[in-house]
Amino acid sequence: MKTAQLKQEFRNRFQYEPEHFFFCPGRVNLIGEHLDYNGGSVLPCAISRGTYLAIGRNKEKLFRFQCLDFPETATLHLQESYSKTGTQWFNYPLGVINAYLANGHNLSGLDMLFSGNLPVGAGLSSSASIEVLTGFALSSIYGIEIDRKEIALLGKQVENKFIGVNCGIMDQFAVAMGKEHEAILLNCDTLDYEYLPFYTDDYVLTIINSNKHRTLVDSKYNERFTECGEALGILKRKLDVNTLCDIDPATFEISENEIKDPVLRKRARHLISENQRVKDAVIALQMKDMFTFGKLMYASHQSLDEDYEVTGVELNTIVDFCKSFSGCIGARMTGAGFGGCAIALIKQPRFTAFQNELTVVYENKMGYAPEIFSATAAAGVREISS
Ligand code: GLA
Repeated sequence: MKTAQLKQEFRNRFQYEPEHFFFCPGRVNLIGEHLDYNGGSVLPCAISRGTYLAIGRNKEKLFRFQCLDFPETATLHLQESYSKTGTQWFNYPLGVINAYLANGHNLSGLDMLFSGNLPVGAGLSSSASIEVLTGFALSSIYGIEIDRKEIALLGKQVENKFIGVNCGIMDQFAVAMGKEHEAILLNCDTLDYEYLPFYTDDYVLTIINSNKHRTLVDSKYNERFTECGEALGILKRKLDVNTLCDIDPATFEISENEIKDPVLRKRARHLISENQRVKDAVIALQMKDMFTFGKLMYASHQSLDEDYEVTGVELNTIVDFCKSFSGCIGARMTGAGFGGCAIALIKQPRFTAFQNELTVVYENKMGYAPEIFSATAAAGVREISS
């Protein structure tokens, strides 16, 4: 058990017993990619893998950050505010502490030992997981009245302002608000949401980590963010809209030539078609029509490949294999892209064959193996017992 290991290590490192243990999951997005910063709706669910935290208060007014998975540690004296140092993992919890301090909360010293079983930087929201985990832990320990939705917003603010990535709200919301066997339909414009039962029946929700070493993801992500803003600015001259996802596919068809730059036009086309696919996927899910859901996943991937251009040879190799594999009814990349993970719906008895065959095909082409595991929709951030 992770908590037993954390407890032992916490004792070794800080010489006392941790006071609390918390867990925050990662997430997959089932469909609706890159819509959250464009006013669209997304359909993520939290998963059972995530990040653990053992935590205790110290009297030395120190924030001590340690992690079982990374050698870097930090010990910082309590001060009024902090800023990011390099690209170290502890910037995420530090950003959350900084946000609480900026909101006027009195924090004392804390010893924190983290550990996770999410592949880091692989598009399963390891960063949102550690942000929301820290936000939830601080609110519990100091009795700060802040609900899960606000913790998610605080995590997003940390990501945008402290870390410097212009992400939307999807990841933090999903890991804060997740529920077992439920997907979350989140309107990223209004933050209205509803839970949709997500039972895949005979199909296994499968996660395939491409294991591609992701580089420059943040800058490419921010580049897409800027492109969307430019495309919206152009269309706003003609259409009375606030976000790109306010535009329906038919209106876009008659207005798209307003955007002269073919790249910007493609970006907008992805968002508008993807927003429609989310609506169609919700209907399919409600009707328990997993075949249609799967087809929409493939269409989503194609659009992310051709119009949004965030896939790459690794993710395309995985999804192409999925299309040829009998027993797979749908697959797509999930998360920001540029490497990272894909998800697929695989018929239960074919799961092991899928793992074996894809591993061979992928390894032959890429020279290294993917990691393939099953997932279910799981609960959001919570305190756990030791
Ligand atoms: C990353 C971001 C999210 C979202 C996805 C793409 O995971 O953190 O806000 O934009 O990419 O859908």
